[in-house]
Amino acid sequence: MNFKRNKLKKTVVIILAFVLVITITATIISNACIKVSEYTINLSELSGSVRVVVISDLHGKEYGRDNTRLLAKISEQRPDSIFVVGDMLDDGDAKNGFSKTVKLLSGLLDIAPVYFSYGNQEKEYNSDIINRFVETITENGVVVLDDSFVDCEIGGQIIRVGGTMGHAFPFGRTKEEFENSNEYIFLKDMEKTSLPTVVLAHMPDTFIFNGAHQYWSNIDLVVSGHTHGGVVRLPFVGGVYSPMQGIFPEYDYGFYMLGENMKMVITSGLSGYKFIPRVFNLPEICVLNLG
Ligand SMILES: [Fe+2]
Repeated sequence: MNFKRNKLKKTVVIILAFVLVITITATIISNACIKVSEYTINLSELSGSVRVVVISDLHGKEYGRDNTRLLAKISEQRPDSIFVVGDMLDDGDAKNGFSKTVKLLSGLLDIAPVYFSYGNQEKEYNSDIINRFVETITENGVVVLDDSFVDCEIGGQIIRVGGTMGHAFPFGRTKEEFENSNEYIFLKDMEKTSLPTVVLAHMPDTFIFNGAHQYWSNIDLVVSGHTHGGVVRLPFVGGVYSPMQGIFPEYDYGFYMLGENMKMVITSGLSGYKFIPRVFNLPEICVLNLG
């Protein structure tokens, strides 16, 4: 009897040790290596193909000194343009006037034109601090999109690219309040074009829920981050948690169709979430082949 119990105990200890070693290894790898996820997306208005790198949610993390590893990995993709979709800052860098992020963005500009939209984190900083940051990166050549758009040439094609942190549906507001909001006015204006339209919207929820896509007939592609891919990804289950969507999020990472026409790509980003490290969830550079 005792022999049987000891054997069972040993088996349980060995299984737990095995799971622990796998999880620790996965956590280390998931916080150090960077993978490249590639998507081919049809935008019917384009007459040629365009290659765009998307990054988000770095939260001040560094890959190599001054992010040299991250920059090299992005450069290898030979992008025509780079979309930075928010939550790039952290409090440590705020004390130095975000010099680390400014340097990273300058490094990105050496590779390709950079379009930057805000994440919730950028919105949380005092407006003086963030305005100084935006002034600096704009002077350096980054195009900052905040309830605004530009018609830009990317890889020989003209694309209308906008950015917003606002909700693309009423979100507790009356119809009138919604229609007077900055995001509504900006998106309505952005839609008035025959160019392909891409919105950088850090929080995917803002375009997913309450049938948000029904309000917009001419937004072709929404590019988001914020979910961190569910932070911990369980094999055969998927992401465990994402901000806003909570436990076992439905829209954690990848390509989605919202209604008949609106496409969405969510990148899982480049860091863990607050003090929680990524597990079974490699940090990601996203490559969009638009054509
Ligand atoms: Fe976020």
